[in-house]
Amino acid sequence: MTDCLKITADNIATAAGVLTNGGLVAFPTETVYGLGANACDGDAVAAIFVAKQRPSFNPLISHVATSDMAFDLGRKTPIAAALAAAFWPGPLTLILHRTDNCPLARLTSAGLDKIAIRVPSHAGARELLTTFGGAIAAPSANPSGRLSPSRAEHVMALMDGQIDMVLDGGPCESGLESTIVDCTGEEAVLLRPGGVTRAALSAALSSAGLDGTIIHSAPLSDGEAPISPGQLSSHYAPKNALRLNAQSRHDNEIFIGFGPDCPASEDGYNLSSSGNLREAAARLFDILHDADNTGGDRGIAIAPIPIEGLGEAINDRLHRAAAPR
Ligand code: TXA
Ligand code: MG
Repeated sequence: MTDCLKITADNIATAAGVLTNGGLVAFPTETVYGLGANACDGDAVAAIFVAKQRPSFNPLISHVATSDMAFDLGRKTPIAAALAAAFWPGPLTLILHRTDNCPLARLTSAGLDKIAIRVPSHAGARELLTTFGGAIAAPSANPSGRLSPSRAEHVMALMDGQIDMVLDGGPCESGLESTIVDCTGEEAVLLRPGGVTRAALSAALSSAGLDGTIIHSAPLSDGEAPISPGQLSSHYAPKNALRLNAQSRHDNEIFIGFGPDCPASEDGYNLSSSGNLREAAARLFDILHDADNTGGDRGIAIAPIPIEGLGEAINDRLHRAAAPR
């Protein structure tokens, strides 16, 4: 069910077609294999979370072919420009604010206003990005809680049958994930150590005439993974109150339904009128955002979402959004 093909020009063209059609393709980078989908297609990105079997939505890195494309998606800052010039293409991920016309699906950044972008240096990854022509959202190609894969065989052992295709480019150069730096503020903030060292980051900033200070991120959640903003319990919260498991709308509320049996109302939303959880995941952040922005001071009431498959991640996110703050 999953094709594992050598990374040739023909197979890259096939892979680009699979991505265009909303499919999932694992591909090599200079760090680890990524599990790719069209980053602008929320439904395709939802399929990544199905394949990863994560009970929550983690924001994903969007991979692009050039720095210019990166800065069409994320707002350039002096720090970002200096680091991009020094280390792209390469194992560095920059966290930037979305640009006003950023076409990335909101699910790609798990509803955050900041996005993660990287221009990889691996020749095969670059050819895939150029042929595809857009941004590819890709977490490491392992199920949640398993080691990141550095060979196509690792990906096949972990994901066979869950994804459409693996492009086999042999072993990855480093096996160590990219360094992640938040470039949105006055100083660079290191969120995940990786292929590019702290000393190298600092030197690049200094030689660009900027402050070479690298701030460390908030406490690490465990040995390896930083707590990203997407995982903080109150990070994504609408301005107005959010009421879960609602059967209907109260006065001064906007209703978000799920499934065919929900009462339709003139300003109501439905995450998926056919009750499809993948569609609901793909639309969740757009609809929350929209309801919050157009609702004035009205609260949001949302119908119960079944806790199965992607419903687990949807409920996780809704509970965080509704948490007292
Ligand atoms: O080397 C790599 O970075 C590999 C290859 C495939 O590019 N990718 C990778 O992705 O390691 P993943 O999903 O396993 O790790 C991405 C990390 C996560 O810890 C996530 O929380 C963080 O990036 N991240 C993504 N978007 C973020 C954002 N907007 N703010 C903060 N952290 C973010
Ligand atoms: Mg990972």
